[in-house]
Amino acid sequence: MLTQKTDAKTQGRAVPAEEPSATGSLSAPPRELDSLICYFEGGFVPMRDAKVSIMTHAFMYGTAVFEGIRAYWNAEQEQLFGLFVREHMERITRSCRIMLMEPIPPVDELVGLALETARRNTFREDVYIRPQVYKSDRAIGVRLHHLEHQLSIVAVPFGNYIDTESGVRVMTSTWRRNADEALPARGKIVGGYVNMAFQKSEAELNGFDEAIVLTPSGHASEASAANLFMVRNGTIVTPPVYDDILEGITRTAIVRLATDLGIPTEVRTIDRSELYVADEVFLCGTGVQVSPVIDVDHRPVGTGEVGPIAGSIARRYFDAARGRLPEYRDWLTPIPSD
Ligand SMILES: Cc1ncc(COP(=O)(O)O)c(C=O)c1O
Repeated sequence: MLTQKTDAKTQGRAVPAEEPSATGSLSAPPRELDSLICYFEGGFVPMRDAKVSIMTHAFMYGTAVFEGIRAYWNAEQEQLFGLFVREHMERITRSCRIMLMEPIPPVDELVGLALETARRNTFREDVYIRPQVYKSDRAIGVRLHHLEHQLSIVAVPFGNYIDTESGVRVMTSTWRRNADEALPARGKIVGGYVNMAFQKSEAELNGFDEAIVLTPSGHASEASAANLFMVRNGTIVTPPVYDDILEGITRTAIVRLATDLGIPTEVRTIDRSELYVADEVFLCGTGVQVSPVIDVDHRPVGTGEVGPIAGSIARRYFDAARGRLPEYRDWLTPIPSD
């Protein structure tokens, strides 16, 4: 789902996380991906030893599910905080159910394995943790049933996915979101991300930062890997779960932040043209974090600058994620760095 912007020099290496400048700064030397410790099929091994066959069902047919989890380094407290680790493990459990991948370890155990993967790498920077459950049989034949599955978890240093400060420019994709009755967007299914790849590449190759994706019936669903919000007349609006969105964990957190700030929220279908007349638009997700949108299909959003509501939500979000707001400590799990 998630690539950090890289250049030729950084291919194949984990790039030091670049902290959003609104929240301070840090730096760390690049680390070879191969030497990072990951969880692979029952044990912790260096990534260079975590190998699967090219006959693996998930490799051939995309039959895997995954999560993207962020952990934020708080330099003042010298503490790494996993963000919504439990919520992500609950969601991967639901994705596994959709994909006929049961049993998997209980949520508590999955949480423990994710934290342990990060701990073993003694990170002192922002991190992306990616658990994946995949159909592990070496087998030809498109199906979901009668196949074994396995769990892997990688953790790598990670910075910003797209701009979080000056605002991004988006285009409405000509590719539609895969409908629930075709490939459920509520499951984080690896094969389904080819749909998002079409949208993201179309947007970037046309000079935009991100794509807005419509449902098969033509309503605004979400971005290529982020949920969508707009502000109209002081109310924050986001599309409902039945508009083919991923049921985003950050989306739920944004609704809580808005409520705590006294901003009314509404969950309802959004038309494409409503984005053209919205006062503010922003994207949210584990990867994009909170990214204000300043232009949709060449129409400036509001004043064309980052709006006040998106700005204040973003500031609160980053402060909460980095462990600076005691009232949101229930979002975080400290990860020991010894
Ligand atoms: C398609 C899609 N929508 C929305 C999101 C946001 O979900 P979350 O906030 O749970 O990361 C993601 C993942 O980041 C995604 O891949």
